[in-house]
Amino acid sequence: MTTLGTPLSPHATKVMLLGSGELGKEVLIALQRLGVETTAVDRYENAPGQQVAHHARTITMSDPQQLKALIEAERPHLVVPEIEAIATPMLEELEAAGVVRVIPTARAARLTMDREGIRRLAAETLGLPTSPHRFCDSLEELQAAIGEGIGYPCIVKPVMSSSGKGQSKIDGPADVQKAWDYAMAGGRVGPGRVIVEGFIDFDYEITQLTVRALDAHGEVQTHFCDPIGHVQVNGDYVESWQPHHMTPAALAESRRVAKAVTDNLGGQGLFGVELFVKGDQVWFSEVSPRPHDTGMVTMVTQWQNEFELHARAILGLPVDTTLKSPGASAVIYGGVDAQGIVFDGVDEALRVPHSEVRLFGKPESFVKRRMGVALVFDADVEVARTQAKLAASKVKPRVA
Ligand SMILES: Nc1ncnc2c1ncn2[C@@H]1O[C@H](COP(=O)(O)OP(=O)(O)O)[C@@H](O)[C@H]1O
Ligand SMILES: [Mg+2]
Repeated sequence: MTTLGTPLSPHATKVMLLGSGELGKEVLIALQRLGVETTAVDRYENAPGQQVAHHARTITMSDPQQLKALIEAERPHLVVPEIEAIATPMLEELEAAGVVRVIPTARAARLTMDREGIRRLAAETLGLPTSPHRFCDSLEELQAAIGEGIGYPCIVKPVMSSSGKGQSKIDGPADVQKAWDYAMAGGRVGPGRVIVEGFIDFDYEITQLTVRALDAHGEVQTHFCDPIGHVQVNGDYVESWQPHHMTPAALAESRRVAKAVTDNLGGQGLFGVELFVKGDQVWFSEVSPRPHDTGMVTMVTQWQNEFELHARAILGLPVDTTLKSPGASAVIYGGVDAQGIVFDGVDEALRVPHSEVRLFGKPESFVKRRMGVALVFDADVEVARTQAKLAASKVKPRVA
């Protein structure tokens, strides 16, 4: 039996989000609805999730001492990482000492913050199909890796990076130096290691949302959402839709891969497993042990969206991954570099049938920063895609 408390009382059930962007904000809202006392942590003030939590804290989450001091002072029942750039070895230490439970596990947070950790687990430990790849620490090693089998085209990514930062495609020898320099500038922790991957000429890519939740006997069961198709530009998601049609063989293989990875990472919660598909062939790409940006579409397509599924799973509550309607999401970018911007045309966007708009409330806009998302449901997923892009285009961010 699960018991939940009353927030702001001695018997509160307390959850701390590490990272409080648009995905964390929705997880926090889902937790609020269950009467959980929430703390939203981010590296800057007034982050989206901090605007909807009971408590807001601003620290450098990659600093182990700051992280330890905060967790020890607040003593949440659960710590929920929402971003990758966290001092995860400290989370492992605190979890091992019994100070806190990390979602889904501190080990999963550590392995997935670094492309090398999760790739070696998937390819070497679990023997799952992945793109051919090598890890390199210098331009010379990168050139050698390409020459010794990776070949062209290939993709170079800093091992510590997300949302396409520092990532580029190499079509021939002339691009190698540029890709190396770009990776060095775009990594999370300064100059360092890269992964070079052979380019997979996939037909499409999906996110397989996978939930590990307790059943009535307290045993973890794995649940799958319908596949989410998406389009990425320069490694960043611009639109997504659900369901993405797949052959039964490709779907079964996707779920086999997703289950193998999530079984190994363990714990409770929702995972976003990214897969490339060509015909019936499936390659594991990467996994987020938390809600996925492409999964924002589930706010209009599922009875329980990915954030509610995560909240329920981590609290030990039952989940239901049933689709409510096909639908799509389209990203609204800042378009300007400025603080406290305004958005014209939200009314126009909401005149698109079956549409919703989420504005994340980020205090500062950048040209390519994700500031909101348009969501549309429709019985025809292609109509939903067109209409979501239309709705997103109606929202016009500008300097106030
Ligand atoms: N080996 C590859 N072959 C083809 N496309 C790739 C490959 N690796 C990445 N991509 C493309 O780039 C996108 C972002 O790469 P990903 O590894 O998911 O980085 P991030 O962690 O920044 O999301 C993928 O969703 C895919 O569209
Ligand atoms: Mg990705």
